[in-house]
Amino acid sequence: MAFQTAEFKPEREPLRLSPVESTLLIPLAARAHGDRLFPAMAVHDACAAAALARIQAEVGCFLQDRLSVYGVLSRTRLIRALAQDFFMRHPQGWGVNLGCGLSAYFQWLDKGRNHWLDADLPHVMQLRHELLPLLGPRHHQASVDLRTPHWWKALGLPRGTHGRPVLLILEGVLMYFKADEVEAVLREFATHAPPGSELVCDTLSWMAMGSAAHHPSVCHTHAQFHWGPRCLADFTRAHPRLRLKAEHPVLDGYHPASAWMCAAFRAVWGVPVYGLVQLALKD
Ligand SMILES: C[S@@+](CC[C@H](N)C(=O)[O-])C[C@H]1O[C@@H](n2cnc3c(N)ncnc32)[C@H](O)[C@@H]1O
Repeated sequence: MAFQTAEFKPEREPLRLSPVESTLLIPLAARAHGDRLFPAMAVHDACAAAALARIQAEVGCFLQDRLSVYGVLSRTRLIRALAQDFFMRHPQGWGVNLGCGLSAYFQWLDKGRNHWLDADLPHVMQLRHELLPLLGPRHHQASVDLRTPHWWKALGLPRGTHGRPVLLILEGVLMYFKADEVEAVLREFATHAPPGSELVCDTLSWMAMGSAAHHPSVCHTHAQFHWGPRCLADFTRAHPRLRLKAEHPVLDGYHPASAWMCAAFRAVWGVPVYGLVQLALKD
């Protein structure tokens, strides 16, 4: 894999992140500074600004992309609400954020008896160890490469009919994977997750494939979009246990025209231009 150095100021050891790893700076910047740009969408992240200050990354270019900042705040609020609901139903369940970057959902979602796992590629976890402390004995961290087989077992996640239900979060991750890698991730979840488990991910339409250079934030990272669904069945065909529970709009509130444009795109193409998808299991 070709590595490039993200642009950090010289006070700290330069941290080498690959293009796809450096995309974590986009949501980190939005959670650190987005509240003042969109007060009505504020997420009140108590960790992001401090983490960003310590790595001293130059993120002005990401904050100029207001639509993406709005999208991150909106999806954060949605995922947080979906997780609150999940832990109401499963108070001892697991929240598992894969490709977690430097996001810190457990600050809001520690319900006293639930567990939380944050996992990402080794370089990212190294950075995370440095910047974000564990928030108690039920908060766990691990390295994972989701493109390798058997990651569910390697992470020690609950399995089988009597395991605790898992809420799996894949936020800003699947669009960087190839179609067969996405299918393998969904199959791994459906093969092992205990009954009651759910998966929440964001989805960027297939039309964005190959065009990250035109995205006003992702272009600065040199990562590429490799996958987007052509129909919603693309989320469930990997395994017979998978079912679509809900779709959630993310960008509709950005501008008066956004809701209309997002709805028109969905009506014409059968998938959201960008949104959240919630999957459940048929048992
Ligand atoms: C856009 S960032 C999103 C970070 C975080 N989910 C958030 O919303 O703040 C994409 C993340 O996916 C991670 N990622 C990419 N490929 C991965 C892989 N094969 N296995 C695990 N994580 C991966 C990157 O390292 C990066 O942290």
